[in-house]
Amino acid sequence: MRSSAIGSVLRLAESPGIIPLAAGSPAQELFPNADVLEVTDRLLRNDPGALQYGDTAGLAQLREWIAARNSTRLGIGSLPERVTLTHGSQQALDLICKALIDPGDVIVVDRPSYIGALQVFRLFEADLAPFPLADDEQLDALSSALRGGLRPRLLYVVPDFANPTGATLSLLQRQRLAELADRYGFFIVEDDPYGELRYDTDDGGALPAIASLSDRVLRLESFSKVLFPAARLGQVTAPAELAPILGMFKQASDLGNSGFLERIVLELVTRPGFTEDRVNAARLLYTERRDALVAGLRRYFGDKLEFDVPGGGFFVWARFPGGPNADDLLTGALAHRVSYVPGTDFYAADPDRGTLRLSFSGAGTEELTEAARRLYQAWAEGQTGVAP
Ligand SMILES: Cc1ncc(COP(=O)(O)O)c(C=O)c1O
Repeated sequence: MRSSAIGSVLRLAESPGIIPLAAGSPAQELFPNADVLEVTDRLLRNDPGALQYGDTAGLAQLREWIAARNSTRLGIGSLPERVTLTHGSQQALDLICKALIDPGDVIVVDRPSYIGALQVFRLFEADLAPFPLADDEQLDALSSALRGGLRPRLLYVVPDFANPTGATLSLLQRQRLAELADRYGFFIVEDDPYGELRYDTDDGGALPAIASLSDRVLRLESFSKVLFPAARLGQVTAPAELAPILGMFKQASDLGNSGFLERIVLELVTRPGFTEDRVNAARLLYTERRDALVAGLRRYFGDKLEFDVPGGGFFVWARFPGGPNADDLLTGALAHRVSYVPGTDFYAADPDRGTLRLSFSGAGTEELTEAARRLYQAWAEGQTGVAP
């Protein structure tokens, strides 16, 4: 296993005085502290079982709520028995590999892809086959590789506002992946922590979940980004034949999540309008932050830095067309007290070293403008060897 890139990134971002564009952490201003305090107090006073062991697959009422929401929001007719609550969606990746991956099995991943998923897949000694999945030509290449004998066990994709690219798969791309999974018999892991964090009202709205297009999909969602990550609560909705196996591995791993935190989350999400209000507040705040970072980068870098404006999520994925290498620039950026993640670790193979991930979720608008200025200073010093 390689060293923990995520761990070092989080440590970096937390250093005092550094504007944190490295970690994909949600805005603390959005955390529902007062609601959590009130619910905690009520639970401890009124529910004698609040601190007890619980169902190892997760609190039944919360799984029922998720199954009902899957059907109203996503058109997936899922039953609570298909839902396993996990320790963040990160644990769902681990359980899926425990259930399905033997060393040498092939997993198709995006190019680039979420570091945390690559880490898990490598831990299970999978062979990674990277294809840029939000790209029609590359999907043709995947189709022909499958026709030519590539036999993946899994395909891992973040369909909406991906980490790190911010890209979203078109309807046709979703349909093609679903058809390929059905034809060649692999499972799709559809990881969707950012789907609700959509910022452009004129983008035509949410596209269907891949899980609504094929029965061979394990769909992961997380309470981390819209609620709070310290709940460490995520879920996997799996095909009926796989769900009991994931439940068995969950039980063997940790006997279930914290039932106490599950109860707190249940109380919150079942309040009328609670989730909608949080999503709306998050959208407003993150839209401002995205726009501030994008404007700052354009102002300072002009065409020296390429990027697409993401329609949602937490990240601007950028590239220096004429250099430098983003791994090398990091030392200078940190000296100017701004952090980011060099793109290299997001690639399963052959990294494009000019790329970097800039997260706008965890800094205020003024800080983001200042971050763009500091990054530019570091870049310009690298170009000329002197301070601009
Ligand atoms: C694509 C993706 N999947 C999974 C996770 C893990 O989230 P959780 O906090 O639910 O474990 C993250 C966190 O950043 C992510 O970006």
